[in-house]
Amino acid sequence: MQLPSSAHKLAIGAALAALVLGSGAAATAGARTGSPTGTGAAGRAATGHGATLGHSGGAVPAGFHPGAPGVGDPYFPLEGNGGYDVKHYDLDLSYSPDTHLLQGSNTITATATQNLSSFDLDFKGFDVSAVDVDGQAATFARDGQELTITPTAGLPRGQTFTTKVSYAGKPQTVVGSPIVFGAPYGWIYTDDGAFVGCEPNAAHTWFPGNDHPSDKASFSFHITVPKSKEVVANGSLVSQQIHRNKATFVWDEKRPMATYLATIDIGKWQFHSTTTLDGIHEFVAVDPALADEAQREHTVAMTGQITDYWQQAFGRYAFGSTGAIVDNVPDIGFSLETQTRPLYGFVPNPGTASHELSHQWFGDSVSVASWKNIWLNEGFATFASWLWNEHTSGVSTWQTARRYDSAYGPGAAFWKLSIADPGRNRMFHAPVYIRGGMALAALRHRIGQPVFARLLRTWTREHRYGNATTHDFVALADQVSGQDLTHFFHLWLWKQAKPPLT
Ligand code: ARG
Ligand code: ZN
Repeated sequence: MQLPSSAHKLAIGAALAALVLGSGAAATAGARTGSPTGTGAAGRAATGHGATLGHSGGAVPAGFHPGAPGVGDPYFPLEGNGGYDVKHYDLDLSYSPDTHLLQGSNTITATATQNLSSFDLDFKGFDVSAVDVDGQAATFARDGQELTITPTAGLPRGQTFTTKVSYAGKPQTVVGSPIVFGAPYGWIYTDDGAFVGCEPNAAHTWFPGNDHPSDKASFSFHITVPKSKEVVANGSLVSQQIHRNKATFVWDEKRPMATYLATIDIGKWQFHSTTTLDGIHEFVAVDPALADEAQREHTVAMTGQITDYWQQAFGRYAFGSTGAIVDNVPDIGFSLETQTRPLYGFVPNPGTASHELSHQWFGDSVSVASWKNIWLNEGFATFASWLWNEHTSGVSTWQTARRYDSAYGPGAAFWKLSIADPGRNRMFHAPVYIRGGMALAALRHRIGQPVFARLLRTWTREHRYGNATTHDFVALADQVSGQDLTHFFHLWLWKQAKPPLT
């Protein structure tokens, strides 16, 4: 029986997860207040020389309030923040694989969505040396993953501002989290550098930001490493320059991207730059230790063929380039759909590659509005891997669904999970993937391939670069099919019992 390999690995992880406890996640410095070293306006305010500030003694201007410390995602109450909308992240970082020191700055361009007296960023670990807002030093305080920034004056609703956070430290790998079966994620140290895969909530273990998929933004990456190393990130490679013993790689992702999809992967790479038959720019980075295997497995050609095929199946590709990052971290246990360039710890097989590349439509372009909608990512990507199998071997998605239907009897624990709201610690459990894939195979069978194809293309077009919920999908399925599918979706997505596969 064919399992999508990422779900399979996660399922294996599940068996081990019971043994792993606690949160070894990045130990954060306790709450502390930093203040600039006496040069900025806030520094002067703190020492009583704030005569030019327009409000006295740091008092909150009337009608201005602190932004919320979270966006209200029930699975992750502190991920993301309220009161602003990020437009762009500009990361300027240097990394030493020897000392593990990551240092530099992140300059965020954002628009206030309320009158802000202060606002939070999510950020864990590191020493923050300075924060400024529109070039003026700001005061800041830290409490767990919240970095609270108080600008010298309030930020009126609608105003676009920049905030620059300068920081240094060693990224802490997230370990022992029950969300992903105890497997490590986030910043993973490798023999030659780093492998960075952050779903769902580890982006703030390497850069400060609004760490929730509901706030997508463009990114630029200016990453400096020893000149013996190379960096691959999302989007396109803008430049690559050597100064003395350092190399700086500039990557740019112009399309909106969720924070968890950002990656910088550092090490030795064999770069392959090409275009797919349909003309999409393709950039693949392969760890030299896997070069022969990747060649034998045709990773570059396969990536292009799958991306092109998904354009036919799901609608036009939303991004400027496609590709792969093939690192040599065989024990990693997961792959990730990092935008434009899925991240693998091994040479991917067609099942895994078709899964991750389909996420460019389902997850990356159309992103979850909150994490309980995760089956919109994983169920769709699992279904996509079955569709690739149908395309290449003739086994239909319906046949695959039937095989799972006979594998899991009505009494199986597999059916006890409501995949439309699986709970934080079950969001990557096998039913979210497989039952989700089965739901789509059943839907395709019920409404027929032409209508189903139109539904998927309408979905990716209407929500391109946006966010969506399961209810949005159900409503669109009703509309496109002209059927009332409420009961069908209730049985497949919500009910804690085995649905009939008919
Ligand atoms: N989205 C990934 C996939 O395609 C799963 C990532 C789970 N997260 C993790 N840190 N292991 O299956
Ligand atoms: Zn997936």
